[in-house]
Amino acid sequence: MNGKLIIEVEDLDVYYGTSQILFGVEFSVRQGETMALLGRNGAGKSTTMKAIMGLAPPRRGKVSLRGKLISGLKPHRIARAGLGFVPEDRQIFSEHTVEDNLLIGGKKGPEGQDDWTIKRIYQVFPLLEPLRHRIAGRLSGGEQQMLAIARTLMGNPALLLLDEPSEGLAPIIVQRISALLKQLRGIGATILIAEQNMHFCLGLASHATLIDKGQIVYSHTIEDLKANDDIRRRYLAL
Ligand SMILES: Nc1ncnc2c1ncn2[C@@H]1O[C@H](COP(=O)(O)OP(=O)(O)O)[C@@H](O)[C@H]1O
Ligand SMILES: [Mg+2]
Repeated sequence: MNGKLIIEVEDLDVYYGTSQILFGVEFSVRQGETMALLGRNGAGKSTTMKAIMGLAPPRRGKVSLRGKLISGLKPHRIARAGLGFVPEDRQIFSEHTVEDNLLIGGKKGPEGQDDWTIKRIYQVFPLLEPLRHRIAGRLSGGEQQMLAIARTLMGNPALLLLDEPSEGLAPIIVQRISALLKQLRGIGATILIAEQNMHFCLGLASHATLIDKGQIVYSHTIEDLKANDDIRRRYLAL
């Protein structure tokens, strides 16, 4: 697979106050790929996601979406340019119903794409349909994660960014989210997943980038990572 470049992250340095957290982070994701950004707790995965989204603006380096520079823009402009971000805390509207959350998330993509409708969401997320009138804050963690992903897709993003989608969920639910993401990949979605849980990503991602202490230490296909015991042991063992 050698699709069009969707996102290109180049040489990012990010600081919180005076402490440097990211050191020259770079990787790219092409159309139709599912990229796993893997690393231990504290490695810099969330900071990388936030830097891309403009929530932790980089002091150096750049981020381009389909060849257009987006770093330096305000977060809402970056989102509108075609990035759909599901943060760690999911940020659903907990007092609204499931369907209202989906409607609130609905907008055309940056090039007028409107592939995602409520109807299509319920086809891909059949578990959400019977919950459509439920208050989102009363859903289980797994249901909330599905809703957060579905709501973000309703914005027709060019790239879906998920920060630790498996975190805090029971193994059976994690499997369900994994199957769902695999299905999204199957219908051509381009996805960037930050995860500590390598096993969650192995059956799901097409590519993997490893981050350690704020630096990219490896970037390759998932098959290469599966075959590379040394890299997995060195950077991903707990
Ligand atoms: N708001 C913050 N202020 C200062 N340091 C932070 C902040 N958020 C994260 N860090 C530090 O930045 C490093 C990377 O954190 P993070 O990107 O959240 O890692 P990960 O998502 O891989 O677990 C950690 O050392 C963490 O303690
Ligand atoms: Mg994190």
